[in-house]
Amino acid sequence: MKIFVNGGTGLIGSRVASRLNSNGCDVLAAAPQRGVNSLTGLGLSAAMDGADVLIDLSNSSSFDANASLNFFQRSSANLIASANKAGVKHYVILSVVGARRLPDNGYLRAKLVQENMVKNSGIPYTIVRATQFFEFIGSMMISWSVGNKVIVPQALIQPIAADDVANAIVDAALSAPKNCAFEVAGPQRFRVSQLITKYLAAIDDLRDVQISEEAGYFGAILEEDSLIPESAARLGAVSFDQWIRFKSGIL
Ligand SMILES: NC(=O)c1ccc[n+]([C@@H]2O[C@H](COP(=O)([O-])OP(=O)(O)OC[C@H]3O[C@@H](n4cnc5c(N)ncnc54)[C@H](OP(=O)(O)O)[C@@H]3O)[C@@H](O)[C@H]2O)c1
Repeated sequence: MKIFVNGGTGLIGSRVASRLNSNGCDVLAAAPQRGVNSLTGLGLSAAMDGADVLIDLSNSSSFDANASLNFFQRSSANLIASANKAGVKHYVILSVVGARRLPDNGYLRAKLVQENMVKNSGIPYTIVRATQFFEFIGSMMISWSVGNKVIVPQALIQPIAADDVANAIVDAALSAPKNCAFEVAGPQRFRVSQLITKYLAAIDDLRDVQISEEAGYFGAILEEDSLIPESAARLGAVSFDQWIRFKSGIL
């Protein structure tokens, strides 16, 4: 089975490509640095030729609303045109839990546009929606940093390891298309303040954590449940404590 992984060199894409290779699949891990660009279309149709499954794990280099909309819209249109030419039988994408509940966040609006393009593509599909990756906590923390404090929302969060997300994508790609979305999340739910306090302690950052209702999520105001799964989600195996120990080299 030939599997085309767009964004196959990224955080999730590289893990997915290597797991599928170990499973004996014929994997093409595509990315601009490998001469395949889904935004411009460069090299796309030739690289996708003969693919049975298309997995899109690419990402916009900017989280700005217009840039991310332009990226996911143009890139998805090019992917769909090439997938139709190649006769792709299953289109898998990775979206974000809560995207539908946070329309004030331009990046998440762009992810919804991507989801709708996949649903309307006519190609059998599976949408995997993941919560925030553990690997993304540092970026969230930077967005909440104000001087020598970290000011966070009161909301709940259920982050997941990139390895667990990759396993869910691989299982989806090797199964029949679901023609719907399903959610994946980490094994534990935290208050954002608890999670960030644990993260700061682990990296020896002595800053105080404060809670404020005005601290949103990259421009969106959060409700208590905005970032957690809407229904029964597939849960990852790796806990935050295991992940942070591994990241810190304390095995
Ligand atoms: N961060 C989170 O917490 C989170 C949560 C849920 C879902 N997601 C979703 O997960 C997906 C993957 O995220 P990630 O963190 O693995 O991304 P990443 O590490 O930034 O990797 C992005 C990949 O996309 C490739 N790419 C960029 N522009 C491209 C183009 N024009 N054509 C083809 N490939 C291109 C990159 O290739 P180069 O290296 O050559 O640029 C790279 O391989 C995203 O769609 C994101 O929305 C993220």
